[in-house]
Amino acid sequence: MKLKDIDISKEKQQLYAAYENCFNLVKKDDFLKGYANEKIKHSMQVVGAGNYILKNEKSFQNKSAEFFKKGKLVCLWHDIGRFEEIILLSQKQRCPQGHSYLSYKILKEAGCADLSILLPIKGHGGMPEALAEDEEYQNIKDPKQKAEVEELYKLVKDADKIANMYLHKADKRLFKDLFFSSLSKQKKYASLSPAVLDCVYKHRIVKTQDIVSFSDRIVQILCFVHELYYQPSYTFLQKHKILDELFSDLNQFCPNKEHVLEIEKCIRDYMNNQIKD
Ligand SMILES: [Fe+2]
Repeated sequence: MKLKDIDISKEKQQLYAAYENCFNLVKKDDFLKGYANEKIKHSMQVVGAGNYILKNEKSFQNKSAEFFKKGKLVCLWHDIGRFEEIILLSQKQRCPQGHSYLSYKILKEAGCADLSILLPIKGHGGMPEALAEDEEYQNIKDPKQKAEVEELYKLVKDADKIANMYLHKADKRLFKDLFFSSLSKQKKYASLSPAVLDCVYKHRIVKTQDIVSFSDRIVQILCFVHELYYQPSYTFLQKHKILDELFSDLNQFCPNKEHVLEIEKCIRDYMNNQIKD
């Protein structure tokens, strides 16, 4: 069975129902309305990015149709909790566990009992160690199921990242973020924070609380490459020349050109080392 023939239209309707419900509740607020629109678009882009990985990843070549369907669903549903989060925001409330947990909770309450779908979604917004630390994951006895949870966790994390990186290339997304418009001119053009630079050199993911300048934000997106699991994710970035765009924006905003050169070299070397042909 071909990947494109695996039908997820019913599940797509479920996601759209969550979006439409949210949209109707917040439609008087332009910001929240825009946020909901963006999230439904993002969800579909992650499905597209996920399909690219599912199709091209060698270790998936002999997987069953059932596995591919789960892969598609994990990508489709990963941010379903965003719509609940947006509704909460409109009521000046927050969910302390974040949107990934909300997605997990909503799906579970809707009757989804498959841990291969639930756990990747629960962990997708967290740091790389999120899954290993999850109690429900630790309690899985069947090694085959554990392996499937891991594969799908890596899939949604990669698809989410490359879709977000692509969006910056296609839509100059970082310039439309609230973060960008909220920055003073001084902070927009400020140097990189030491904690962020450290992530480049140590090949880590940048934590949002470490971001101060706009250069920090660009480097946060660049550092996504440090947590990619599948080869097609790298080739996707190369094919669309996504890093070039980010480096050129960094060069425009970062006052320390030496840092820019160092970062570019470090990240390109890292990428080239990861790519196995
Ligand atoms: Fe996402």
